[in-house]
Amino acid sequence: MTGSETNRAWGGRFAGGPAAVMARINASIPFDKRLWRHDIAGSIAHARMLGETGILAAADAEALVDGLERLAAQWEADGVPEDLALEDIHMTVEAKLAEIVGPVAGRLHTARSRNDQVATSFRLWVRDAIDAHVAALVAFSRILLDRAEAEAETVMPGFTHLQVAQPVTLGHHLMAYVEMLWRDIDRFLDARARMNLCPLGAAALAGTGFPIDRELTARLLGFDAPTANALDSVSDRDFALDYLMAATQCALHLSRLAEELVLWASQPFRFVELPDAWSTGSSIMPQKRNPDAAELVRGHAGRILGLMTGLCATMKGLPLAYSKDMQDDKEPLFEAHDLLELSIAAMAGMMADIRFVPERMRAVAASGFSTATDLADWLVRAKGVPFREAHHLTGRAVKAAEAAGVELAGLSTEMLAAIDPRLADAHEAPLSVEASVASRLSEGGTAPAAVREAIAAARERLEAFA
Ligand code: ARG
Repeated sequence: MTGSETNRAWGGRFAGGPAAVMARINASIPFDKRLWRHDIAGSIAHARMLGETGILAAADAEALVDGLERLAAQWEADGVPEDLALEDIHMTVEAKLAEIVGPVAGRLHTARSRNDQVATSFRLWVRDAIDAHVAALVAFSRILLDRAEAEAETVMPGFTHLQVAQPVTLGHHLMAYVEMLWRDIDRFLDARARMNLCPLGAAALAGTGFPIDRELTARLLGFDAPTANALDSVSDRDFALDYLMAATQCALHLSRLAEELVLWASQPFRFVELPDAWSTGSSIMPQKRNPDAAELVRGHAGRILGLMTGLCATMKGLPLAYSKDMQDDKEPLFEAHDLLELSIAAMAGMMADIRFVPERMRAVAASGFSTATDLADWLVRAKGVPFREAHHLTGRAVKAAEAAGVELAGLSTEMLAAIDPRLADAHEAPLSVEASVASRLSEGGTAPAAVREAIAAARERLEAFA
């Protein structure tokens, strides 16, 4: 099955058109039309440069810019037409421009190739995506900061191995996620800074013989400078991978918080209650209230990770420079973007609305001899006992308390003195969960005062660039 009409953009040396399946596998317009604003912006900058340098007559350059602006207005209203015969967004722009401005449209592709064009449009798209993610992550961080501030004194169990380890404050726990989100923001901004170089002018792979001004196009498009090597410029997709890696790391953080919400909302924990707006019911069990959004955020993280490894696999075997495999860079990135955008929004919404159950958190925090370390530390401080010996003595106190069915604070002076005389006045140790957390004032510690300091520092950091 061979089509009869040859491609107008490159069909000069062809006698026949592509098979129907060839047209389908070749075309990227169904997905790369998402780049249309950035592709038109790149073309406008290119046309301006062609005019400025005298490569095109000023009137031609003006006609191209004017036509591209009209095309953008038209597509803003009606959407982008999807014609497989036009292959991709670049050829669709050129063909539709010709319908507006006539044959002068054929001059737009002077001194460029679709290879540098797609690299430029895609970079511009990724750059905008990063800016939107950063804004969303800043907004989410502010929600967590507000909630951490309100819960700076709320005691909850801190876990290691998912076993009650030491009491912490809920504010401290929430601030751990603020730190993670900060690193995500930083990673996105780092990726943005590295990718902000303009490939336009690399042409197909070797540069061009026309006297182009790459500084000018770079500046017009908000890039810091042109890229250095033409071969690298058209074959580099590091910016897409940097984006996907930053997105993956961010998704992992969201997924860990989601996992905690799933645990905390379950009956054995009951640390939180999900409001109706963030719960779903069961079609068979009328009492159920399921944390589906959190579970889906956890699920989406797996997909984003898969999309990232997928593009790594696509790129790993490609010789220089452009290969058509690289057309497969867009769908994974778009999909990861949409999943991450939704995940950030869902987590921010849930964390804004979730109800904490402080009584329940405190009760669990006080169980399991969670202040045993405080007793050992007290023996070191107040009695000069070496820590290793203090650890051992405290272990015996825990054993006695367990046998008596009481918490450490419930051991009588006699029982304590019987273990070791130095334990006789152990009730002076910070054995309550409140005293325990209040004592942990070290930088980054869980004490309410330390948490408030961390919140203030994080707010300052966010304000510095937001
Ligand atoms: N649609 C193509 C892509 O997304 C544009 C570049 C095509 N270049 C080429 N030499 N066929 O990768």
